[in-house]
Amino acid sequence: MLHPFSLRYNSSHCTWTSSHEMFRPYTLNNTANFFQTVSRNTRINLGISEKNRICRTSRVQPIMASPISTAVTTQQQPDSSQSTAPQPLQVAKRLEKFKTTIFTQMSSLAIKHGAINLGQGFPNFDGPDFVKEAAIQAIKDGKNQYARGYGVPDLNSAIAERFKKDTGLVVDPEKEVTVTSGCTEAIAATILGLINPGDEVIVFAPFYDSYEATLSMAGAKIKCITLKPPNFSIPIDELKSIVSKNTRAILMNTPHNPTGKMFTAEELGKITSLCIENDILVFSDEVYDKLSFEMDHISIASLPGMFDRTVTLNSLGKTFSLTGWKIGWAIAPPHLTWGIRQAHSYLTFATSTPMQHAAAAALRAPDSYYDELKRDYNAKKAILVDGLKSVGFRVYPSSGTYFVVVDHTPFGLENDIAFCEYLIKEVGVVAIPTSVFYLNPEEGKNLVRFTFCKDEGTLRSAVERMKEKLFLKK
Ligand SMILES: Cc1ncc(COP(=O)(O)O)c(C=O)c1O
Repeated sequence: MLHPFSLRYNSSHCTWTSSHEMFRPYTLNNTANFFQTVSRNTRINLGISEKNRICRTSRVQPIMASPISTAVTTQQQPDSSQSTAPQPLQVAKRLEKFKTTIFTQMSSLAIKHGAINLGQGFPNFDGPDFVKEAAIQAIKDGKNQYARGYGVPDLNSAIAERFKKDTGLVVDPEKEVTVTSGCTEAIAATILGLINPGDEVIVFAPFYDSYEATLSMAGAKIKCITLKPPNFSIPIDELKSIVSKNTRAILMNTPHNPTGKMFTAEELGKITSLCIENDILVFSDEVYDKLSFEMDHISIASLPGMFDRTVTLNSLGKTFSLTGWKIGWAIAPPHLTWGIRQAHSYLTFATSTPMQHAAAAALRAPDSYYDELKRDYNAKKAILVDGLKSVGFRVYPSSGTYFVVVDHTPFGLENDIAFCEYLIKEVGVVAIPTSVFYLNPEEGKNLVRFTFCKDEGTLRSAVERMKEKLFLKK
């Protein structure tokens, strides 16, 4: 047996079982057992991704094999400035299976390969001047200390006003609106504040990646329904069949990332009946509500009998092209707001004060702002969709969001990850492999997602690159 040591691995000794290195970070768990059993020349498996079947082996290099005293208190503290040995990665069990998010990975790769990034959904143009100026003014006016935990009063009011305009529902800004750090935190506060370990929560795959991780942090049991191309419609009978006495909530997203599907009035009506009959809550992520192109967006909270059982989640980022501001909110009746605020108090307590003031100004934008936003995005969407069709993709209809999903199989790559890898390295364009949005990655292997939240020149250049370098399989 070897004494405890630090571990370094040399990438020249690495063997890859797949070429998909970039998608897989590695964790090393159970280090205590590991140190008991490993020898100087052990070839170890540095991690097997449960979900994605990729493993890596490497020769272990012990670089510090001094015995460690059992009397830990007498042990000399290592000088961190001298240490050359990377430490084994550590992560709590509840997050063990999750990877670096695909968006972070793809955006880094875009930079590395000089590829045009149609992957991560952030605009490459700036938000409106009147909102940025409101933020500068708030900073100059000294609105720089902790905000009230559940939101600066003016923003809570602006959110309530906007919600009334959009849905007809009158909500109390003090008791039914909670401001959070982006919709991501609103999702987390809702799940952690209202879901008990063992509760069943139904999600629709493909789904936004934070859902699974956050439900896992809450100890929820995930029940998944898969939406299938070409229409990604809700299989209502299947949905009914997975409801049980333990079903606590349905977590849904409309307009839907990544597919662009919008839940129809009929689908929402059926979900409503199911929830009322079975006393189920709905957490409805509506961050793309203002990017609805082919039909009107419907908030499920506005359907009869639903407000009392719905948390509506939203944020400023997509609507105002300010994804870095991370101002979000949850609207819910007081009895649900209580749990959300309890979690929010201990997650972030409050979010950026000056940005909240600016967000209030943003939400009071005239209707012309929203009309122009849709007009601009419609033009961008047409460039991308027509371009992708002319390259040879099968493009699935997208009614909302700034995403489109395509079938990449005409180009002959084995799956979405291989396709995206090829697209970045050989063509110079980034897309997102959709298998990361499924509980069972196999279900997304034919699909990739492109975004059109980029200026028109960028979209045209990306299409040109694909036309020049991407060829249909003969
Ligand atoms: C469906 C969905 N929900 C939530 C979020 C996160 O929103 P925010 O940036 O406000 O945290 C995103 C961001 O891409 C999203 O696509």
